[in-house]
Amino acid sequence: MEKLWGGRFKKSTNEEVEKFTSSISFDKKLVEYDILGSIAHARMLGKCKIILEEEAEKIIFSLNKMLSDIQRDKLEITNEAEDIHSWVENKLKQEIGDISGKLHTARSRNDQIALDERMYLKEKAKEIINTIQDFQKSILSISKKNLEVIMPGYTHLQHAQPILFSHHLMAYFYMFNRDKERFQDLYKRIDILPLGSAALAGTSFPIDRKYVAELLGFSKISENSLDAVSDRDFILEFLSISAILMMHLSRLGEELVLWSSKEFDFIELDDSFCTGSSIMPQKKNPDTAELIRGKTGRVYGNLITLLTVMKSLPLAYNRDMQEDKEPLYDTAKTIKESVSLMSKMIKTMQVNKIKMEESMLNDFSTTTEVADYLVKKGMPFRQAHKLLGNVVLYCLKNKKFLEDLTLTELKSFHKYFQEDALEILKTKPAIQAKNTIGGTSSNKVLESITEAEKIIRKN
Ligand code: ARG
Repeated sequence: MEKLWGGRFKKSTNEEVEKFTSSISFDKKLVEYDILGSIAHARMLGKCKIILEEEAEKIIFSLNKMLSDIQRDKLEITNEAEDIHSWVENKLKQEIGDISGKLHTARSRNDQIALDERMYLKEKAKEIINTIQDFQKSILSISKKNLEVIMPGYTHLQHAQPILFSHHLMAYFYMFNRDKERFQDLYKRIDILPLGSAALAGTSFPIDRKYVAELLGFSKISENSLDAVSDRDFILEFLSISAILMMHLSRLGEELVLWSSKEFDFIELDDSFCTGSSIMPQKKNPDTAELIRGKTGRVYGNLITLLTVMKSLPLAYNRDMQEDKEPLYDTAKTIKESVSLMSKMIKTMQVNKIKMEESMLNDFSTTTEVADYLVKKGMPFRQAHKLLGNVVLYCLKNKKFLEDLTLTELKSFHKYFQEDALEILKTKPAIQAKNTIGGTSSNKVLESITEAEKIIRKN
């Protein structure tokens, strides 16, 4: 296919170099944005009388046809062109001849690729925001459905204090809400039109950038032509907030793997989200959760790839930057699939209420509650902490559990203990006692669910 820059060259490009430098195999994904950007550019060139209106119309008509042929799978993008910009221009030339050559007036592939990527990412960011929102709705519905379920809360993966299962789930609601907000915030920085920066310095033609921004639905226009063509911050930011999102998903993925193991047996994942073993007939493996956990690695990798590509690059455009696309696509695809699958997986899982409750029998997880009981009677917390440490030692030595202690035994530790102390030893009252904002009592969890529903409705 004809090059866009052949004039200055005496020799044709080395074949290996051609392959090595070509980006068509992966920038063809941007074809629709490239054509839409070209249509807007041509319209502006016509309006500003930089080319004749009839010429602009001819170009636009042919580009529109190309777009609809591509959308209806009637036109295939072959890999002979160097990049998608060359492919579109070559196609246009085949259709309308030399007039096609007027399209690239006041434009460079440098501002063109930055435009295509921004258009692509605006769409992806919206899709991802919606996918996260759906996921949050799943979390909300399971939290509401399981308000009665209690479970051990952990620190260091050791039983710490009893909590509501819904409280645990809602922690993820808020984690993913921060993720969603990060994508919403990033959107503002993607939504800036780079077109009109040309190669690096701007252009001597009297272009109307505001008009192009309007046509393409951009809210802002880039302020510095060098920055506009050499900036990939919006992609880096997308990759880094995606990495944080995946880190969150990997934590939930890990919990699902743990909870569905025989040792925990807190949940059962739906058959449709698990696979079996080729050798052990009894196996049901939580592969989807494992893979979401595992794919976090490639998303982190994509961020490091682009950070490294961009490091120390002198202004303005450098060909190194062509390496930005594959990590970008890969991350966009991976996070969308992972969030969507996680949402479906938690919606279909069975919650083993009895197992969760049983796991808390005799686990000493209300010891802090008893210490607090003494504090409320006037004992300094440090003293109560030490005293309860002794109570636990006593239980371990005498093979007793906290719940087995009689009032007489308790009283032997301190005179503050009264009949009501025996209630405090139980799990459910301990949960209900955590009635401060953000705490795990039923009231507070319900309140936080109501807050969360407001957040969802506002979006
Ligand atoms: N394929 C290039 C990229 O992805 C497009 C911009 C090319 N510009 C250039 N001067 N070769 O970055």
